[in-house]
This record gives sequence, structure tokens and C-alpha cells, in this order.
Amino acid sequence: MNIIETSNISPTHDSMKRSDGSLWKLYNFRGGQLVLTSRGQELLSHNLNLRRHIQSYKSESRAAQRYGTERIFFRPGGNSEIFKLGETDLLIKEATKNTRSSLWQALDRMDYLYTLCLQNLYPYIRVPEHYGLLIPNEGINDYMLMRKINNGITVMDLIRGRVNVSPDIVSSIKSDFASLKHRIMEASKKTPMFKKYKYPFILSDWKEDNVLADLHTVNKDRPYTLWVIDQ
Ligand SMILES: Nc1ncnc2c1ncn2[C@@H]1O[C@H](COP(=O)(O)OP(=O)(O)OP(=O)(O)O)[C@@H](O)[C@H]1O
Ligand SMILES: [Mg+2]
Repeated sequence: MNIIETSNISPTHDSMKRSDGSLWKLYNFRGGQLVLTSRGQELLSHNLNLRRHIQSYKSESRAAQRYGTERIFFRPGGNSEIFKLGETDLLIKEATKNTRSSLWQALDRMDYLYTLCLQNLYPYIRVPEHYGLLIPNEGINDYMLMRKINNGITVMDLIRGRVNVSPDIVSSIKSDFASLKHRIMEASKKTPMFKKYKYPFILSDWKEDNVLADLHTVNKDRPYTLWVIDQ
């Protein structure tokens, strides 16, 4: 089975130390549960309006508003839908409750991968911040909050010629993609998580559609950044 550090969380444990040293917090409230990664705790402490945005988002979601003020349809997914949170640079991934375990596992893997890439890989290989999970008792959906990187342009979009980019850049991105999985797996061998689980199943859905090609975030090595998503 996948790495599930989150399995240690229970209603009696309201925080959890992760293998990367960060602390996740779990809040039980009348309507459900909220899990915040350390990035999520930071985000909420610096953005006091965010709770209000999320509250309005939730009511628009209950009313199934696809183009509301706070809930704005962004991209369809295989087992989920992605919405923008108003004018913020945040996205909310909604998945039906019967796939709840997959959102838990997704948050688990993505938060692990975030630190892994940040600490071990070149700046052109990154993972968007994943802030947390809202699990209401009622309704059909759970919600995962993450940072929006670009307009959803992926490596596959470039390969298929759906965006206008120079052939040099496309071929450089293709060549980076070809070695990316191996690099991430190698980097993971240096982590306490790997030592604990031997072969953590961190890249669960590796494909060109699940790596964003961000041509606006340049760094010293590349005129782009590749962001791993949806693992
Ligand atoms: N953090 C992000 N920033 C920008 N765009 C994103 C981000 N996360 C997802 N997207 C966009 O939304 C699309 C769907 O997201 P995602 O791959 O997470 O959903 P999914 O339901 O798991 O899809 P699938 O099962 O088809 O892979 C992505 O292909 C990408 O275009
Ligand atoms: Mg995907």
C-alpha cells in the first residue's frame, strides 16, 4: 500500500509529526474535520481573509455554483474537479467522499514530495504547496487546497503542440521529463521516510499530464520550472 503517514491521525490526536519534521494539525469541528499541513498553517496565519473566502466557497459548492464569486471552475480531472478560489492564487480539488482515502493519500504524498524536491533537487523541479484538506460530515465532496501554478499547462500540452513554445524549449522539457521520475526516486532514498518504508510509493500516477510546464518561473538552470502534481 502507499505511504500513509496520515493513518496515525485519529480524533484523539490533533497533531502529527511528519517524517520531514513538520507538523500537521487536525481540527475537529461540528461540521467535519480540517487538516492543515505546516504550509497550510502558515498560509492561514498570514491571510486572515482566507477563512471567509473558504466559507463562501463552501456555500457556493453546496449550491453547485460552477462560476460563483469564490468557486470558479478551472479544469476537469479524472476523478475530481478543480476550482479556483475567487481571485486568489489558490485551487481547490474536489473529490467525492467515496474516494476520500485518495485525497488523504494525495495530501500525504504531495506534502512529502514538496519537501523532497525543495531539499534535494534543482529549482526547476518543484511541487506546488498543498495546504490541507477539508472533510465535511455532510455533502458529497471533500476539498483539497493547493497553490495554483499556471493556467494548467502541462508537459503533455507542450508535446501535443497545444501551446506556442519554441521547439528548443519543448525538446529540453521532454528530455528533463524523461529523467525526472528516476531523479525523484533517487532523492527519496535519502529521506527518513524511505528508510522507514523502504520503497515508498510516492509517484502514484506518473505521466506527462501530471507535470506542469511553467514558462514564467525561470531559474539559474532553466528558463522554466516543472511542477509535479496529482500524485
Ligand atoms: N496546482 C496546480 N496549478 C495549476 N494547474 C493545476 C494544478 N493542479 C492541477 N492543475 C490542472 O488541473 C488538471 C487536473 O488536475 P489533476 O491532474 O490534479 O486532477 P485529476 O482528477 O487527478 O486528473 P487525472 O485523474 O485526469 O490525472 C491538471 O491537468 C492541470 O491542468
Ligand atoms: Mg492528473
